[in-house]
Amino acid sequence: MMQKNQPLSSAIEAIGNTPLVRLSRLTRGLDGHVLAKLDYLNPGLSKKDRIARQIIEDAESDGTLKPGQTVVELTSGNTGTGLAIVCATKGYPFVAVMSKGNSMERARMMSALGAEVVLVDQLPGAEPGQVSGGDLELVERQTQRIVAKRQAFRADQFRLKGNFRAHYLQTGPEFIKQSGGGIDAFCDFVGTGGSFAGCAAAFKEHNPDIQCFVVEPVGAAVLAKEPVTYSNHRIQGGGYSMPHLPQLQHAHIDGYLKVTDTEAVDMARRLAREEGIFAGFSSGANLAAALHLLKGSFKGKTIAVILCDSGLKYLSTDLWA
Ligand SMILES: Cc1ncc(COP(=O)(O)O)c(C=O)c1O
Repeated sequence: MMQKNQPLSSAIEAIGNTPLVRLSRLTRGLDGHVLAKLDYLNPGLSKKDRIARQIIEDAESDGTLKPGQTVVELTSGNTGTGLAIVCATKGYPFVAVMSKGNSMERARMMSALGAEVVLVDQLPGAEPGQVSGGDLELVERQTQRIVAKRQAFRADQFRLKGNFRAHYLQTGPEFIKQSGGGIDAFCDFVGTGGSFAGCAAAFKEHNPDIQCFVVEPVGAAVLAKEPVTYSNHRIQGGGYSMPHLPQLQHAHIDGYLKVTDTEAVDMARRLAREEGIFAGFSSGANLAAALHLLKGSFKGKTIAVILCDSGLKYLSTDLWA
């Protein structure tokens, strides 16, 4: 791990090694602790910088990415921003394919970082800010067309091992080191499942007693085998109602937690007001789930969560209204 107290050779070296903060204001009056990893402090303002770097560097190592080849990926904005940073630095053209349902700050940021951004219409009747599995299917088809046409490398975050590896090799071990080994549980809102699976594998290797929980939206908890009644939830970056996620195939899952839109929003707002931490919807979801654990069977324990991206990415939404 590169030290950050000396000049770095590029912004890529500034990815990862994010601070871990004990949220003692938010947990006042509760028995137990929440340790939050401030991954919104990565250069692209999200945890996805980590996987962007790992996916590109893995592909460079195994020869699947050739010098100067175009890189393409389907993104809700964060992975695309990470890839834009990594590709700009290393000299690969990058095309980001994104649903119009995601907030426009993300598209603007990717363009600013030199990416070509292709926006895909949502299904008829869909709400902006609420990207469903059906909307994502449209983005997937467009992505495949672009990859074929440009003979591009697909930085496929749903399938490539680099997603899992980034969190298994970096995020998980950072949690263990920074916490001094005192973590009892980890809960994580799932999009691709890469963060959950990678961290859970690192945690279980360190101490099999650390309990790892998947977090899903109420009404779209397909991994917990519940029917989908609310696919248009507002927690951007996950909860896509996809029951078979390759990244979760061999994951250690001890249980499933559910959060509502309102809980995620309330927690993101409290995080900003009470802890001075400006993060997005899914960070609020992770925190809401952690508090469920502390108020339930994990009373007196220490729960680890990732704060996935910056609140700046949602200025155009009503998160901060
Ligand atoms: C803001 C945000 N939160 C959570 C997630 C889910 O993370 P993962 O794909 O590792 O499951 C994503 C993924 O895109 C995201 O962008």
